[in-house]
Amino acid sequence: MKSVKIGDINIENPILLAPMAGFSSLPFRIICNGMGAAYSPTELVSARSIRYNGAGNSMQYMRISPQEEGITAIQLFGSEPEDFEAAIETIMATPVLQDVSIIDINMGCPVPKVVKTGSGSALMEDPARAASIVSACRKTLERMGKKIPVTVKTRTGFNSEDEGKPDFAKALADAGCDMICVHGRTRPQMYHGESSNKAIAVMREAVRSYGIPFFANGDICDVESAKRIINETGCDGIAIGRAARGNPWIFEQVTAGLAGKELPKYPDENERKAMLIRELEGRLKYIPEEVAVREFRSAMPFYIKGIKGSAQVKVRLVSATGIDEVKEILEID
Ligand SMILES: Cc1cc2nc3c(=O)[nH]c(=O)nc-3n(C[C@H](O)[C@H](O)[C@H](O)COP(=O)(O)O)c2cc1C
Repeated sequence: MKSVKIGDINIENPILLAPMAGFSSLPFRIICNGMGAAYSPTELVSARSIRYNGAGNSMQYMRISPQEEGITAIQLFGSEPEDFEAAIETIMATPVLQDVSIIDINMGCPVPKVVKTGSGSALMEDPARAASIVSACRKTLERMGKKIPVTVKTRTGFNSEDEGKPDFAKALADAGCDMICVHGRTRPQMYHGESSNKAIAVMREAVRSYGIPFFANGDICDVESAKRIINETGCDGIAIGRAARGNPWIFEQVTAGLAGKELPKYPDENERKAMLIRELEGRLKYIPEEVAVREFRSAMPFYIKGIKGSAQVKVRLVSATGIDEVKEILEID
């Protein structure tokens, strides 16, 4: 894939880690970027919560580290343009956050708790509001003298019969969105069934003439599926979510495969366990050990998938309380 520009930012290798709540920790994002991801947005963070409670409460989810990550992106969700304005003002006034490279807006989350507030995928049903959120973000950043691009991640529909939302994509582009990333599932599909490259292509075509980069997402799990989504959607870049859990090597695999190079050797059991510990140690830098281990319980099993005896190891890992215990379970010194 060719490099693309999001606003003024050059994206050399347009392969992203798709944001995943509970998985997109700072250490994991650093690891993925080190393996070739161009950047890795944070998980979704409530613009309203930042507005009314300040950045502190959400810091755990939106902490960035430009030195270690390179390009950084914070993903916000909400339904009121004013909440986004205030959230961005707070972010820009917060030392650890103000150097963020990109503000990404979540317009795809299918979780009822989010949808019923008019946020996430609900915005697909209200293109005017979605557009006003994009322009509010842009104006706030411009007013603050920040040349920070505003991007949107969305889906191919709100209702099961939707097969792409071309007018919605156009409304975003008209409002000045600097990049659109589309997951090829509708809201009711959540994460089930197949991701439709055909529906993504409908949205891609709708905004082709705007010249903003378009990223496709959904079910990329290897070089073949990456090639397929690129060929079938005509996208400029791709985002990989679930297949990266416990498997940051997918970024070097897909990068090499798309460049027609020989695939790097897949990590062995010890390397995978060592990576698990690296992510856990990264988490320990910011949060107490007990909390870090508890929050990492859902991600740990992905690192040992397929390893001999992994079923029993998984059972033990999900009740581990400290790093020494995790090492003991994994039989690491
Ligand atoms: C556990 C989980 C959490 C997710 N959290 C977010 C999120 O915070 N923001 C977002 O835009 N998408 C989120 N997604 C959607 C993913 O970014 C992605 O669009 C989806 O998983 C499809 O891509 P994949 O098939 O490569 O996983 C989440 C997905 C999963 C599985």
